[in-house]
Amino acid sequence: MKIVRTIHEWQQLRETFEGKSLGFVPTMGALHEGHGALVKQSVSDNDITVVSIFVNPTQFNNPDDLENYPSTYEEDLANLGNWKTDVLLFPQAKEIYPNDDNYSIDENKDSLPLCGHDRPGHFNGVLTVVMKLLNIVQAQRAYFGEKDYQQYRLIRNMVKSFFMDVDIVAVPTQRDTEGLALSSRNLRLNPEEIETAQQVNKVLNSTTMELDEQRRKIESLGLEIDYLEERWGRIFIAAHIGSVRLIDNVALK
Ligand code: PAF
Repeated sequence: MKIVRTIHEWQQLRETFEGKSLGFVPTMGALHEGHGALVKQSVSDNDITVVSIFVNPTQFNNPDDLENYPSTYEEDLANLGNWKTDVLLFPQAKEIYPNDDNYSIDENKDSLPLCGHDRPGHFNGVLTVVMKLLNIVQAQRAYFGEKDYQQYRLIRNMVKSFFMDVDIVAVPTQRDTEGLALSSRNLRLNPEEIETAQQVNKVLNSTTMELDEQRRKIESLGLEIDYLEERWGRIFIAAHIGSVRLIDNVALK
């Protein structure tokens, strides 16, 4: 795996891939099997797979969250190697956001509900960095997880709206054997909390319960719900269990 740290270095390397298909997986590091599924999908669809690790400052509303964002660089390198990544792009903030850069993407509808509600500006930060990274990498395809369905939808629609020449590919949420969506946050759950969290997916997938019944059931399991909403043909949840905020969504049956 080649590691490139500057845009110029990437552009030179990219020239050597002339005629080959490129797949791109943007990440903020702290990689887990959910990212693994994106990378493996890209590896199977494309000749060359590029993964970026860039902890994007503009998508954090809380400076402490940015400060405390986990950095697991050595493990990330090992995972990326195992998943057969060809190139790691590891850009520096000063190159992605030069001092005189005062442009950003502003979406003002689908970015506002759900995970955008309590995090004003979060999705504008995501869209801005994704636009920049897509323009830098110039891949044919870019991969995003359905676990962050709102993010995927916003990126897909941004690409359409700005006539960008890249296919946005959605990869299904990776789940454990009981249906719990994989997330690095699950590591902070104790075995009892894991069992409770696994129940949530079963409730979301229930074909017999109305939304209100689902809400009551999830609350009775001891979770504190931020939102539980139907939208875009799916049901979305964010809920706290212990100190962990879990998010998930499933297609409506
Ligand atoms: O999903 C993420 O990890 C980030 O939001 C993304 C898409 C890499 C943009 O910083």
